[in-house]
Amino acid sequence: MGRVALVTGGTRGIGAAICELLRDKGYTVAANYGGNDDRANQFKAETGIPVYKWDVSDMAACQAGIEQVTADLGAVEILVNNAGITRDGTMHKMDTDMWQAVIDTNLGSCFNMSRCVISGMRENGFGRIVNIGSINGQAGQYGQVNYAAAKSGIHGFTKALAQEGAAKGITVNAIAPGYIATDMVAAVPDQVLEKIVAQIPVGRLGEAGEIARGVAFLVADDAGFITGSTLSINGGQHMY
Ligand code: CAA
Repeated sequence: MGRVALVTGGTRGIGAAICELLRDKGYTVAANYGGNDDRANQFKAETGIPVYKWDVSDMAACQAGIEQVTADLGAVEILVNNAGITRDGTMHKMDTDMWQAVIDTNLGSCFNMSRCVISGMRENGFGRIVNIGSINGQAGQYGQVNYAAAKSGIHGFTKALAQEGAAKGITVNAIAPGYIATDMVAAVPDQVLEKIVAQIPVGRLGEAGEIARGVAFLVADDAGFITGSTLSINGGQHMY
């Protein structure tokens, strides 16, 4: 059996593509999800990948969920912090709940999940953590102070934890996706999205599988010298 990889938000969109590619490459994959049971059951039936439901913004739920994954599959050696939500709106229309939900789910989850697996990785002398950031954490985005702050935080989190893990065989990297054809981007109003696509030099939205390829590259055993980096995969929209 290949190394155990746990992907948060793993049953839809970018997370599902990551799970499937890692499974194809021989990893033992577990997919966490937060709420959509129908989609999760469909994903499990189609892929054979086990699914685990818990809220990644809740530390106690993360501890219990990871204990279950470990009991079923073995210690988590690869963690992909992918789960994320949007609550878009301009600042003057944004309420505290919109702010807090995005900070807790997108950034707080990285702390919760990483905290739960880091001691095991240190003991084993091996670990791979990949955090899914965003072009909007690098460049900002109108209507996304919450999301941009959380994603920008992920990029700082990655560089700090990379320094701590380096001597223990643990690499920590980020991927900054641009606009990818997922449910999240489909929720952007058509006229807004048209303007965004016009700013992408490659001339189209990205595919979830194009992000998954980056994750597979970063989690490989022979990627041990790559740590603290951010891989931008955005069709040339922002060259950071
Ligand atoms: N720059 C400057 N002005 C802008 C603007 C922009 N990017 N976008 C909108 N505006 C202007 C509008 O033209 C409008 O101006 P007028 O009132 O003068 O006509 C004003 O802002 C208000 O715009 P809206 O009517 O759209 O305001 P709203 O409150 O109804 O909606 C919004 C605002 C929710 C931010 C909406 O514009 C929106 O959804 N934008 C998309 C945000 C976005 O890109 N989200 C990314 C989601 S996908 C993702 O996050 C994944 C990832 O990592 C990439």
